[in-house]
Amino acid sequence: MDFSLTEEHIMIRDAARDFAQAELLPGVIERDNKQEFPDELVRKMGEVGFLGLMVDPKYGGSGMDAISYVLVMEELSKIDASASVMVSVNNSLICYGLENYGSEEQKQKYLTKLATGEQIGAFCLSEPEAGSDATSQATTAEDKGDYYLLNGTKNWITNGGRAGVYLVIAQTDRNKGHKGINAFILEKGMEGFHIGPKEDKLGIRGSDTHTLQFNDVKVPKENRIGEDGFGFKFAMKTLSGGRIGIAAQALGIAAGAYELALKYSKERKAFGTEICNHQAIAFKLADMATEITAARHLVMKCAWDKDQGNNYDVSSAMAKLYASKVAMEQTVEAVQIHGGNGFVKEYHVERLMRDAKITQIYEGTSEIQKIVISRSVIKG
Ligand code: CAA
Repeated sequence: MDFSLTEEHIMIRDAARDFAQAELLPGVIERDNKQEFPDELVRKMGEVGFLGLMVDPKYGGSGMDAISYVLVMEELSKIDASASVMVSVNNSLICYGLENYGSEEQKQKYLTKLATGEQIGAFCLSEPEAGSDATSQATTAEDKGDYYLLNGTKNWITNGGRAGVYLVIAQTDRNKGHKGINAFILEKGMEGFHIGPKEDKLGIRGSDTHTLQFNDVKVPKENRIGEDGFGFKFAMKTLSGGRIGIAAQALGIAAGAYELALKYSKERKAFGTEICNHQAIAFKLADMATEITAARHLVMKCAWDKDQGNNYDVSSAMAKLYASKVAMEQTVEAVQIHGGNGFVKEYHVERLMRDAKITQIYEGTSEIQKIVISRSVIKG
């Protein structure tokens, strides 16, 4: 078993680390306060290839593997999880979905712009009454011959205001259950498509999250993804990859908080010595290092599964379940190690603690990951 990274993997990891230090760290506290993320930074992430990491270069992507993707996600998330969620959604849910299940015309029209960051995508599945229970879609797409008529509401949509392209899941035939669900490509500005106000959130405050409303939106037939009734499977398949990205995000948040806590504990003195010399702190550091390493192994395993062409539904659910738990628990510990300073914004760990929580909620709550895992272990 070879746990070492290739030279190429080390290069991309270091490039992401440098990018995060040079471009994301300056202003990260202000962006969190103001709940904003400048277009200029999105453009820079597109220029360095982070927004279409795994997309074939013929569609404007970087043509990298999933291991490279999780390395980039970890490094960006150590500094700014609002930036990395944009990278994750655009890569895993939007570009992957279109590249693997879209028609050639759809790829030509949308994928290149998305892979280069000229446009950003949003994945629209969740509804007021359908977050975890994804088959209970209330948004309808009525078949009108050469177009579908969309009506409904989508909630908590990442990139909801910024996106140019929206992949929307809707019910075409309720009698068919999940086989009556379809996925559609919508563009900002379509008649009847309204973007609601930005949500005021606990964490990832730089990322824009909106409610979307569809009132008699006419969506051309050619904008449906795949065969009629493929929408639910499309959502499940893309979400499995999405969970790789969010697992890596959770890992990065935990690792970022750990690195700050370790550094602080070597500088801060109490009772006549650096606090890392007190067992109360040293044991916390030992637990953090161990759990973060275990989370990294799970994240690498599901990325490796994807690169090998193995099924990664369960390994990505395990990685997300565990890494998000580690992120939540260990960012709390990082705040504790910082004492009073941990409660102050300039030390960064309080933001990481707030950002960690969403990794246990989006792209399937921890309970959803346990459903996926338990069904698999029971079935054998
Ligand atoms: N790949 C392919 N097909 C799959 C699949 C997968 N990973 N998972 C399920 N399916 C198929 C099943 O095989 C089944 O098909 P057949 O009937 O032909 O066999 C069909 O889909 C229905 O499957 P289930 O019976 O398992 O469906 P369920 O209703 O029990 O739901 C679930 C399963 C895992 C709970 C699912 O509903 C789920 O994942 N829910 C969570 C949704 C979610 O992650 N929401 C987050 C929103 S997106 C987001 O957060 C993005 C963002 O902005 C950051």
